[in-house]
Amino acid sequence: MKNKGIEYSSFESLDVPQLCGIIIVNKERLVHLLDNIEGIERLNLLKSKIMALKDVISCPTNDENGVLNIDTIENKLSLRKDVFVSELEQILESHTINRAKYYLRRLKSSIRGVKTSNINDINLLRWKDYDCIITDSLWVLDKRDTSGAHLAWYWGNFIPQIPHQIMLRYTRKGDWVLDTFLGSGTTLIECRRLGRNGLGIELNPKVAQKAKDIIEQERNIDNVVTDVIIDDSKRANINTVLEKHKIKCVQLLIMHPPYHDIVKFSEDQRDLSNAENIEKFLQMFGDAVDNATPFLEKERYLALIIGDKYTKGEWIPLGFYCMNEVSKRGYTLKSIIVKNFEETRGKRNQKELWRYRALVGGFYVFKHEYIMLFKKSA
Ligand SMILES: C[S@@+](CC[C@H](N)C(=O)[O-])C[C@H]1O[C@@H](n2cnc3c(N)ncnc32)[C@H](O)[C@@H]1O
Repeated sequence: MKNKGIEYSSFESLDVPQLCGIIIVNKERLVHLLDNIEGIERLNLLKSKIMALKDVISCPTNDENGVLNIDTIENKLSLRKDVFVSELEQILESHTINRAKYYLRRLKSSIRGVKTSNINDINLLRWKDYDCIITDSLWVLDKRDTSGAHLAWYWGNFIPQIPHQIMLRYTRKGDWVLDTFLGSGTTLIECRRLGRNGLGIELNPKVAQKAKDIIEQERNIDNVVTDVIIDDSKRANINTVLEKHKIKCVQLLIMHPPYHDIVKFSEDQRDLSNAENIEKFLQMFGDAVDNATPFLEKERYLALIIGDKYTKGEWIPLGFYCMNEVSKRGYTLKSIIVKNFEETRGKRNQKELWRYRALVGGFYVFKHEYIMLFKKSA
C-alpha cells in the first residue's frame, strides 16, 4: 500500500501501530545490511551484528549504517516495532548458523516484498503484523465498538466488529460489498472506515433513512460509495443498482436477516420477521440469496450472520436451516464461527428469570449466534 510516497505495510489500515508503535526504516539500507550479515559464517559474529541492529531500534544514535536515515521518500518503510524486534530475537535464539540464516532470509523477504491473495490486502510475508485479525472459530467480543458513527440505536443490529473482521479477510480496498439486510447501516459505516464501497438494501424506509443520515456522519477519507437502497431484498433489481455505479458484481455479500420472529421489524408482509412459519421464513431467505447470488463475483464470499430460536419448548436451529439454504445454491461452506452475545439491556433485567426458566424447562439460555462463511463456486 502506498501513501504520499511512503511505503506502508498494510497493517497500517488496521489501527495496529498506534497500539504497538512503528519504526520507519530505510528499506534499501536495511536489506543491504541484512545481505551483509547473511554472508557471515560464524554464528557468534552473526548474532553480534543482529544485536547491534536491535540496539539501533532502542538507541537510534548508534545507527552507523544509516538504517533509520531516510534519504529518499521511496526508501521509507514503516514496520511494527514489536514484530521486528521479535524477529531479530528469533535469530538471536538460533542454535545453528543454518537456522539463524533461515530466519534472516525470511525477515529479508518480508521487508523486500509483498505477497497478497486475490481476496484481501493482507501481506502474507508480514502475517505476524495482523494479530488484530481473528482466525479462530470462537469469537468472544466483550465490547461493542461505539466509536464514530456507530450508535447502537437499532434493536437487532450486529456489532461493528463483525463486518470489520469479515471485510479485512474477504475484501481489498476499493472492493464492493452488498448487505441485503442493512438495518442501521453498520456495514456501510465500516465500509467508509476501511475504504470499501458499500451497497445496502433495507425494506423499512424509516430505518433506511435514519441509517443514511448516520452513515453520512462517518468520515469518508477514501471517497468510497455508500448507497442505501429502500427495497425488498427478495426482489430488488440489483442489476440496476450495480449499473448505476458502473459495476457488474460485488466482491462480498453480507446477510444478517431477522432471526425469524424474535424481533418484529415492521408490519410489512415482505419482511422476513413476519413469515408465518419457519418454512415460509426459509423460503423468503432463500429467495433473497437467489436474488443476490448472480451479482457476487465467482470465488468470493457470502457471510451469513444468524442465531437460533426457541419456540414452544423446542430449540429451533435456525442457523443450520439457513446454512442449508445457502449450501443448496452453489456455495461451499468455509467456516462456522460461534460468537457470544453481548449482554443486552433487556436480557440483563430478565437474566434471573431466564435462568429459572432454563432450569425448569431443561434447556440452555442462548449466549451465541453464528457467522457462517461461504465461498461461491468458480
Ligand atoms: C437483523 S436486522 C439487520 C441489522 C443490521 N446488520 C445492523 O447492524 O443494523 C435485519 C433487517 O432486515 C430488514 N428486512 C427484513 N426483511 C427484509 C426484506 N425482505 N428486504 C430487505 N430488508 C429486510 C429489517 O427491517 C431489519 O432492519
